Amino acid sequence: MIEWLLIPAAYLLGSISSAIIVCRVMGLPDPRAEGSGNPGATNVMRIGGKKAATITLLGDMLKGLIPVLLAQILDVGPVILSAVVLAAFLGHLYPVFFGFAGGKGVATSFGVLLGANWMLGLAVGLTWFVVYKLFKISSLSALVGATLAPFYVYLIMGMQPLVYVAALIAVILIWRHKTNIQRLLAGEEK
Ligand code: G3P
Repeated sequence: MIEWLLIPAAYLLGSISSAIIVCRVMGLPDPRAEGSGNPGATNVMRIGGKKAATITLLGDMLKGLIPVLLAQILDVGPVILSAVVLAAFLGHLYPVFFGFAGGKGVATSFGVLLGANWMLGLAVGLTWFVVYKLFKISSLSALVGATLAPFYVYLIMGMQPLVYVAALIAVILIWRHKTNIQRLLAGEEK
């Protein structure tokens, strides 16, 4: 029974926006009102530089990683594990503490996938890294990584609920990047 509580707990943890908190604490402008307007590590990099962006990235990743690792420790089974993965991701996108207006979910989706299986995290992380090295565009790297994630889940963990959840995450993440995709197609993405 207690394991079901992990789902709302993961959502609440996901709702803590590292970008907004880091910018507030470091005296930087609100990431929702500057740059791309996205409360995420890439935009914090634009606004406040490497240090602020690294802390944001780690915070957003950890809030996905921690509840999923907890679910693993409690041995909750594939259905609840997938629900915890989705809940933390949705918390970042629709944070209850910040008027349900959150980020695009890149770092948090990496954290939840890493928590589900370290090889999965490695595969998605390496994909992001390789695409970034080739094109130097953060959003493109995230889009490729998220699109491949359900296939990686299938290859590494077999057919299970997480395949569908990773696919759902990919669809939502792509939807959240629609302005980035328009800029990519126009050759204007930074
Ligand atoms: O981390 C989100 C990234 O993929 C795009 O962010 O600020 O360029 O819209 P941004």
